[in-house]
Amino acid sequence: MPMERIRLARLRDRIMSPEAAAELFTDGMTVGMSGFTRAGDCKAVPFALAERAAREPLHITLMTGASLGNDIDKVLTDANVISRRIPFQSDPTLRRKINAGEVMFIDQHLSETVEQLRSGQIAPVDIAVVEATAITENGGIVPTTSVGNSASFAVLAKKIIVEINLSMPTELEGLHDIYIPTYRPHRLPIPLMAPEQRIGLPYIPVDPEKIVAIVITSKSDSPSNVLPPDVETQAIAGHLNEFLYHEVKAGRLSASLQPLQAGIGTIANAVLHGMLDSPFRDLKMYSEVLQDSTVELLDDGRLSFASASSITLSKSASERVLSQLSRYKNRLVLRPQEISNHPEVIRRLGLITINTALECDIYGNVNSTHVGGTHMMNGIGGSGDFARNAHLSVFVTKSIAKGGAISSIVPMVSHVDHTEHDTDIIVTEHGLADLRGLAPRERALQIIDNCTDPLYRDILKDYFRRACRRGGHTPHLLQEAFAWHLRYAQNGSMLENQPEKQLEPA
Ligand code: COA
Repeated sequence: MPMERIRLARLRDRIMSPEAAAELFTDGMTVGMSGFTRAGDCKAVPFALAERAAREPLHITLMTGASLGNDIDKVLTDANVISRRIPFQSDPTLRRKINAGEVMFIDQHLSETVEQLRSGQIAPVDIAVVEATAITENGGIVPTTSVGNSASFAVLAKKIIVEINLSMPTELEGLHDIYIPTYRPHRLPIPLMAPEQRIGLPYIPVDPEKIVAIVITSKSDSPSNVLPPDVETQAIAGHLNEFLYHEVKAGRLSASLQPLQAGIGTIANAVLHGMLDSPFRDLKMYSEVLQDSTVELLDDGRLSFASASSITLSKSASERVLSQLSRYKNRLVLRPQEISNHPEVIRRLGLITINTALECDIYGNVNSTHVGGTHMMNGIGGSGDFARNAHLSVFVTKSIAKGGAISSIVPMVSHVDHTEHDTDIIVTEHGLADLRGLAPRERALQIIDNCTDPLYRDILKDYFRRACRRGGHTPHLLQEAFAWHLRYAQNGSMLENQPEKQLEPA
């Protein structure tokens, strides 16, 4: 019942329709909405905003935790509501407008957005819209399946709209750990010593008078859209397991490894799924998003605890977890993304991070965001927060894309998200390059020999040999460094003299 979920009784008369709540916005506002990798997004007010925009001009800067589900980014883009978007997205319609230069997208490390808000470096949030399971007796907001940036949006915003989602089980209360760092430069250290530790409150503490509207909803989160593991991703997982096992045997890691982080998407999920076939035990995760593989590892007993900022699951896994929360609740915690992704905490806990590259170059620079160097895919997300500060920074990718027309290992990446200094290990289905302690010329040999697809191995070797003859610490032939990308743009294949018909369809 909606009223029971609003435990501070005097707020109950602030319940209104999404349309009435949408009237609280004005053109040009900055809006902070809940939602992180399709989990815990607001499911009514965004649609009412789109309807209002059909009648009158309404443009906003939209900040979230990360990507949204329920086609919210699509609907708001189609209605021309979004003029500026921060800090991550993964929607094809919005992506098209970003790449056409019609929406300004600020692609940001996910730990950074609220730091910039808190210090007044970016425009303040006028209205926060936060999905909640309940409002507590003192007006605290209990989030749903993600925390993301919701806590700081609500604390810093002038006004708050709460969407109480009746389809979210009330047992979600107690899953969250809301710790908000103090202001810099006098901030105290974040007292988090282990993934399973709780250091904050189970709700977002706000001044109840700022809650200007409460909207009741019952729509579910969109299910995750990751694909199941395939032959290549299973091979990637196998190489990584073998490497980690070797590290255990060498005494550099224990059998429970160190806290794991795995990035978003099909490949990272499949790699973590591969841990089901590993000899590791009593694993812990300190990650930003928990996907199906996390639940499989929890069910299997191999994973003993998982900390993150959101839970994004397929329909079946979501139904299982939400209907049996008591089985999982003492092994899960959801935190604000500035804590799940906090560089100092990541460095101190010694994470093994597994993130996905679109392409890597022969020295280990990684492009995770820009197709062909220019076109935004999703954004850097948390990959930079984790990779730069990891104990062991792993990047995974399939060695080829689009049926072989693209090599994911190239002479020089067309855009750099993670520099060679942030990359310890690269894994493709062909093998693993261990780059630790190696100079650029040694790194190149490891990457070319172990990770490149045979289609491209010889031409990459030839490039490297000729570059070395020219000299340098990090040898390159600058006039050729992007030739592969140019060839793909012009001929539809990075291969030289390779008729497209010989390639498998993408
Ligand atoms: N050039 C062009 N396209 C490429 C490519 C390349 N070098 N490599 C892959 N692709 C395409 C694939 O063909 C696929 O296209 P499709 O959607 O048309 O089939 C798409 O990119 C996704 O690739 P896929 O192999 O399915 O990987 P994924 O689902 O695991 O996603 C990223 C990979 C890099 C897009 C995704 O992990 C991402 O956005 N990462 C950045 C943010 C991040 O790492 N966050 C995690 C921090 S916790």
